[in-house]
Amino acid sequence: MPSSFVGFGIIGSVLLLSNMSFTGPSMASGGKTASKAFDFGKTVVVKPKGKHQATVVWLHGLGDNGSSWSQLLETIPLPNIKWICPTAPTRPVTLFGGFPSTAWFDVEELSEDAPDDLEGLDAAATHVANLLSTEPADIKVGIGGFSMGAATALYSGACFSVGKYANGNPFTSNLSAVVGLSGWLPCAKRWGKELEGVDGAADRAAALPILLCHGKADDVVSHKYGEKSSHALSSLGFKDVTFKSYSGLGHYTIPQEMDEVCAWLSSKLGLDTSSSSLK
Ligand SMILES: *[C@@H]1O[C@H](CO)[C@@H](O)[C@H](O)[C@H]1NC(C)=O
Ligand SMILES: *[C@@H]1O[C@H](CO)[C@@H](O)[C@H](O)[C@H]1NC(C)=O
Repeated sequence: MPSSFVGFGIIGSVLLLSNMSFTGPSMASGGKTASKAFDFGKTVVVKPKGKHQATVVWLHGLGDNGSSWSQLLETIPLPNIKWICPTAPTRPVTLFGGFPSTAWFDVEELSEDAPDDLEGLDAAATHVANLLSTEPADIKVGIGGFSMGAATALYSGACFSVGKYANGNPFTSNLSAVVGLSGWLPCAKRWGKELEGVDGAADRAAALPILLCHGKADDVVSHKYGEKSSHALSSLGFKDVTFKSYSGLGHYTIPQEMDEVCAWLSSKLGLDTSSSSLK
């Protein structure tokens, strides 16, 4: 692994946050932005090195981009996965006092208690579904991400089980796995009602495997939000939720965590791990 691996994820997120006093009293917000189309940034694709069996869209954290994660994903030993790493739109972020940054949705604070930007979440989740829409039918698809990318991935997982986005449009991808690192489930209070009485929702929730990983020393998205999100998902009827905690880990990733992600994805996506699949 390259030596930069350990610090990965801090880049563009903690560094940016650290000079914005985000833990202080909430900053004056410039008010809600008007409804508009979002310009998503560059998408980088990491091609499978072996036989293509699954495609995973991976979503970066606040202020980061798809290219930086693609460099890490390029190095992890999952030769049967195609990674699609999009870049969020650059938009004014309320957390930064309206300063523009790449963000999947607007945030006031990085927590499950924050008011939810449903329009931004829907736009991001729809962008992800569009990226997956051209995958062949025999390819399993999943969504993963870090920090607010994880929040977007979990939002997509919840929309998948409900069968639609908040705006009412149908959710069309057939997700086989969702991974969230150092993130949270947005609109935690909304889903119970949404899932009620929807045909097939309980079955989709029960069948969708979800992996949540969180550092115990995370000072950007508190470990307790990750833990609470995991409990919320379980009580909503997601029956295959795994929550992993890492002592001493802050708001970034480490090889041990990525190893866990690899093993979990191999198992949940039924990837061929025999040596012949490597080349
Ligand atoms: C992507 O983000 C990294 C930091 O995370 C930065 O060094 C790099 O310049 C960015 N690349 C692009 C294309 O914006
Ligand atoms: C969705 O994918 C699962 C495998 O992950 C498969 O069993 C199921 O039949 C698929 N459903 C549809 C509607 O394609």
